[in-house]
Amino acid sequence: MADADASEAKHYAADVPMRSEPFFLKGSNNLDWGMKNRLAAIFNPSSGRTVMLAFDHGYFLGPTSGLERVDLNIVPLIRYADTLMLTRGILRTSIPPTYSRGIVLRASGGPSILKELSNEEIAVSIDEAIRLNVAAMAVQVFIGGEYETRSVHNMTRLVDMGNRHGIATLAVTAVGKDMVRDAKYMRLATRMCAELGATYVKTYYVEQGFETVTAACPVPIVIAGGKKLPESEALQLAHNAIQQGAAGVDMGRNIFQSEAPVAMIQAVRSVVHENLSPNEAYDLYLELKEGGEDSFDS
Ligand code: R5P
Repeated sequence: MADADASEAKHYAADVPMRSEPFFLKGSNNLDWGMKNRLAAIFNPSSGRTVMLAFDHGYFLGPTSGLERVDLNIVPLIRYADTLMLTRGILRTSIPPTYSRGIVLRASGGPSILKELSNEEIAVSIDEAIRLNVAAMAVQVFIGGEYETRSVHNMTRLVDMGNRHGIATLAVTAVGKDMVRDAKYMRLATRMCAELGATYVKTYYVEQGFETVTAACPVPIVIAGGKKLPESEALQLAHNAIQQGAAGVDMGRNIFQSEAPVAMIQAVRSVVHENLSPNEAYDLYLELKEGGEDSFDS
């Protein structure tokens, strides 16, 4: 048994108000401790931003280029990511359980590229998400799509389940091929997701008025990389989005389909976390690519 505390010298600092610091993420101050703790495993608390490495594409695309062998092509990249976005199948089979950052679990699915993509259902139970110790669940939301209401309902059900257990919900705004990708559409889609409870939202960057999309969304926005671009253009895209209010990138093909994925993910990090200009980041990419160097201290 511990000795009773006999010391008379107590230090209550009664004249010092208790610290009460706001949480670093937009719109997240009123969340509970567990949710904030998980969000801090997705977003870097120092920069307030994230580089999400996305490789969940197989859930409707199968083994797309660069993802034929996750163990060989993706695992060497994971140490450079702030968080991983993936399916439970790939998490269990291919990712070392020693990975200690946040996991963003793909939680919706159903149709393949051969069918109507908006016809998704929730594809994971909350028990499974807890068992896998995930930080967030990601759900596709098809505003304007054929199954718009179903996909929104998938999101709100995941928000309810996630909030009960302190797990964040990432709403992924999917834009149909025949839809206009402009700021007006992105404002509608992202704002709807935030209003209906998403903890954060993923969308696409648009050239005109992206700052109005981030301004009108009361939770953090991350941008998808989209189709493979030349590395300099992908870095420019990331830079523009960050400078116009995005809290990070959720990037897949522009990293794992790059000629030098290890160099590319580090160059993306430099744009997101260190505000490097696109030219500086591209120079870093070339330097790392040519030198086989590693600038990362983890
Ligand atoms: C869609 O397949 C997924 O939600 C991807 O995670 C997302 O589109 C990001 O990947 P990419 O940068 O390749 O677009």
